[in-house]
Amino acid sequence: MQAAYFQGHETFQVSDCVPVEPADGQVQIRVEFCGICGTDLHLFHGAMAHRLTLPHVMGHEMSGAIAAVGAGVGDWKPGDRVTVRPLDPCGACPACAAGHRHICHNLKFIGIDRPGALQGLWTVPAHTLHRLPDGLGMRQGAMVEPIAVACHDVRLSEVAAGETAVVIGGGPIGILIALVARARGASVLLAEVNEFRVKLARGLGIDAVNPLAADLVALVNQRTGGAGADVVFEVSGSQPGAEMMTRLPRTRGRIVVVAIYGEAPKVDLFRFFWRELKLAGARVYEPEDFEKAIELAASGALPLERLITDVVPLDRLADGMRRMERGGDCMKILVSL
Ligand SMILES: NC(=O)c1ccc[n+]([C@@H]2O[C@H](COP(=O)([O-])OP(=O)(O)OC[C@H]3O[C@@H](n4cnc5c(N)ncnc54)[C@H](O)[C@@H]3O)[C@@H](O)[C@H]2O)c1
Ligand SMILES: [Zn+2]
Ligand SMILES: [Zn+2]
Repeated sequence: MQAAYFQGHETFQVSDCVPVEPADGQVQIRVEFCGICGTDLHLFHGAMAHRLTLPHVMGHEMSGAIAAVGAGVGDWKPGDRVTVRPLDPCGACPACAAGHRHICHNLKFIGIDRPGALQGLWTVPAHTLHRLPDGLGMRQGAMVEPIAVACHDVRLSEVAAGETAVVIGGGPIGILIALVARARGASVLLAEVNEFRVKLARGLGIDAVNPLAADLVALVNQRTGGAGADVVFEVSGSQPGAEMMTRLPRTRGRIVVVAIYGEAPKVDLFRFFWRELKLAGARVYEPEDFEKAIELAASGALPLERLITDVVPLDRLADGMRRMERGGDCMKILVSL
């Protein structure tokens, strides 16, 4: 059983996993697959270094089976197939008191502030567990966390059947938002600048365009009889995306900002006044989004295998990260443990 210990400076040491015995309220999981996420890539390049204790284990998009349980973990038992909602809220701050534990003021994100899933045996609090149904494969199980992000974003958008949604940015999160919104009956247009990703989305029957090659504003107006989109999701994290998001919605349309920006982007506030737009932020997920994600994944409604473009062994983790950052021809890369 191995683990990838991040040493800083874009370096992992893959060596024997040092398992942690599950204490009261904890379980130990035999991890099978763990997805690489943009956040892991940021850590790899030195971002959020003050939050890491080196050597650090990354990873928060995973599937596995319980190997051992501590005391007081309810019905959980060895062999149970699970995924983890990687959030550890304080339970005492104003956000927690208001019932918004997922955006706790003192939130600890497991995989950043705590050791993550890129280890053969991983010990986590039992309150983070969600059960994977028997019919859902372990590869697909490792996709539940990003699907839950999409379920949260689509839920907060309140997009309804028959409404028009535009998703700016067709990475793993944007494409899942497009698929979840479509499953809810919305008519979806995805804007993505990477041609490999445009083609991949089209192959899934998603209406995808490259805004560098087409006039997105004109296209949205044309499709909506000049009205504009009901909902726009900004998932590119780019300055052009942040500018575009205010140009697309209809009068009193909604914008949901999912992306995380390296620098505060310039946003045209005039458009909020002019069209009485509404802006919502969306951060991670709540338990019901995980349950919805598992239900959608298990229903077969999402073409998850087509989104998994690579599966690499643990000792190829750094190669997987470099491949992701080249941005070219991949979508979701899983690590097999
Ligand atoms: N809100 C949350 O809790 C949450 C959770 C996960 C990820 N995120 C953020 O969501 C964003 C998307 O995540 P991801 O993993 O899919 O990242 P990603 O980098 O793989 O996807 C972003 C995509 O946007 C595309 N893009 C760049 N500029 C564009 C433009 N002008 N127009 C259209 N597309 C453009 C890129 O080619 C890329 O495919 C990131 O900013 C990430 O940090 C937020
Ligand atoms: Zn992630
Ligand atoms: Zn709190």
